[in-house]
Formats: sequence, C-alpha cells, structure tokens
Amino acid sequence: MAGVYQIGSLQLDSNLLLAPIAGYCDLAFRLVVRRVTGYGGHGSVGLTCTDLLCPHAILRETDKTLWLAATSDDDQPLCMQLYGRQTDVLVEAARWAQQHGAKVIDLNMGCPVDKVTKKNGGSKLLTEPDLAVTIIRELVRAVRVPVTAKIRLGWCDGTIITQTLPPQLADAGVAAITVHGRTAEQKFRGQVNLPGVAQVVEAVKRHHPQVKVHGNGDVKSPQDAKRMIDATGCDGVMIGRGALGQPWLFRDTAYYLATGQLPPPYPQAERINCVLAHLDNLAHFRGQRIALNAIRQRISWYSPHLQPWPGLKRDVHAMPSVGEVRDYLLRQRDEQLQTV
Ligand SMILES: Cc1cc2nc3c(=O)[nH]c(=O)nc-3n(C[C@H](O)[C@H](O)[C@H](O)COP(=O)(O)O)c2cc1C
Repeated sequence: MAGVYQIGSLQLDSNLLLAPIAGYCDLAFRLVVRRVTGYGGHGSVGLTCTDLLCPHAILRETDKTLWLAATSDDDQPLCMQLYGRQTDVLVEAARWAQQHGAKVIDLNMGCPVDKVTKKNGGSKLLTEPDLAVTIIRELVRAVRVPVTAKIRLGWCDGTIITQTLPPQLADAGVAAITVHGRTAEQKFRGQVNLPGVAQVVEAVKRHHPQVKVHGNGDVKSPQDAKRMIDATGCDGVMIGRGALGQPWLFRDTAYYLATGQLPPPYPQAERINCVLAHLDNLAHFRGQRIALNAIRQRISWYSPHLQPWPGLKRDVHAMPSVGEVRDYLLRQRDEQLQTV
C-alpha cells in the first residue's frame, strides 16, 4: 500500500515530488506523470508543481501566466510556485493561486537565472534571510494551504545557509523545505552535495521534526533516490530532469523504496503511450504548431528510455504534422503489443 505522506495538512500518496522545471513540467507533462499509477499499490508521484510564476503577471492574468498556472482535476494535488521579493504582491498572488487550484504554495529561493536574481528574487533571497522569513510568515498567514520553500545550499561556497535559514523558515511556518544540493553560483555544475542536504535536514529537524525536508538534485534512478534518503535523512525526494524522459520513474522509485526491489520494467507499449499522451495533451492545450515543435524537442528526452528505436528522433523531426507523428507512434505501439 502506498505510504501516505503528509505536508502540513495535505495528504499525499507518496514522498516523491516532481520538480518545477520552467518550460518542461507544464500541465501537458504533469498529466503524463500522473497517468502512470503505482505498481503493486506502492504509489507514484505525490506532488507536482508549476513552473515558477511571476506574481505580478498572475495578478494581471496574462495569457502566458494563465497557461503556466493552468491545472485540472487530474492534475492534483498541485503546488504553485511563486518568485519575487515584494511581500504584498506575493501574498495577493498566493491568494489567487489558492483560489485557482493550488494545494501548496511554494516560494522560489533557488532560481539562479539572471532574469530572476537581478530583481533580487529566486536564490538572491538566500542572501536576505530577514526578508525571506518575512515573506514566508506573511504567506502562511494569508492562505489556508501549506506554504513551502525551495532553496539551495547558499548563494556561493562562502555564504552557505544550510544551518541558519532553514530553521528560521521552519519557525516562520513552512510545512516543507526542498533543498537542491548546490549553491546558486554553481547553477547545475558539479555533483549534488549530499552532506549539504543532510545539514539542512539536521538543522530543521532539531526543533521542527514535523517540517518535511526534501532532497533534490541529480536523482535519475530509484537507486539515486534511496541514496539521497540514506545519505541525508531527508523525508522525501524531488525529481526533475531525471523524470523528463521517464515519467514512470516515480512508479519505479516508490516501489523500490518500499520493497528494496525494482518492479518489472514499465512496458515499452506503455512508454509509447506516455509519449502519445504527451503529444495529445500538447495539441489539446497548446494547438498543433506548438505541439509539433515541443514533441520534436521532448522526443530527445524520451528516446534513451525507449527500447532501441533506430531513426526515432530523425523521423519525428522530419514529420510535418502532429497527425503523422501520432500515427507513427501508434504503429510502433501496436507492433509492441503484438510482440508481447
Ligand atoms: C531548465 C530548468 C528549469 C528550471 N526551472 C525551475 C523553476 O521554475 N523553479 C524551481 O524551483 N526550480 C527550477 N529548476 C530547478 C529544478 O527544479 C531542480 O531543482 C534542479 O533541476 C535539480 O534537480 P534535478 O537534478 O532532479 O533536475 C529548473 C531546472 C532546469 C534545468
């Protein structure tokens, strides 16, 4: 049976979370992740998240942000992630998010991208702990749903915050903290620093054992997830890039964490069904042109996780319409079904 996992008052089916990845983990993809159910009753993904959302754009309800914040009944429970540094605007945006389907509100304190940090948002907040704590406290006051924070180990090696800011965020009322085990300056270079993640766990749990800590970074397999938990003592694991080509990774990982064994490989025909569902979702939500461009890009992520399929990427890139890509995938899927 799936171990029920709790963030604040919210019950989740597992302690595995899909990371926000701007431009990737949109509604079209989240629904693909959600369609892969657990194996042997051991759960799959527990929580998914939107891309980082600009609170000003939310309050103006721009078309782009409405798409980024779009959700549906099948996309739940969903976390909506906000970034910025203006407490009043963030509070209003959090209320909007709660009204529009967010079951968790997350504050981004990890984004190292210039566009975000130049406005002193994202990982720049790690250098302004008082402001970060104030924002969290006001968000917690403003909404009923749990408020969480996504952080890094610090801005740079000289300003590590693993033992200082996380317990302050817990004092301010966060229900969970996800820590990407790198500094902002590192961006995505080098390897994830598991002792750094362990320091956050230790610092938070000392006075706030109920606050969940999620380890994040470089988890690409069920074994990586177990290593993250074993090495850091974290409660759950957030997976980003590792899931882009294998949305069934949550199913495999939940089973592995529960039993110590890998489940039977997710069948090839089902893998192709995931790509088909992704294509259909993209076409449904974004239209044919965007769907075709997106699937051409996303097929490179899926390709290493499909059985050897000579010409897959070349063929998909050469096809002029969603309909042709769809027929091509369906033919392969049906061939697979006949061989099993
Ligand atoms: C292209 C890209 C976009 C990202 N967008 C976000 C984002 O919107 N919000 C956020 O908190 N983290 C974002 N991240 C960071 C991921 O959530 C995650 O922390 C990081 O990729 C490490 O986890 P992974 O190794 O499992 O991918 C992004 C990462 C990448 C590569």
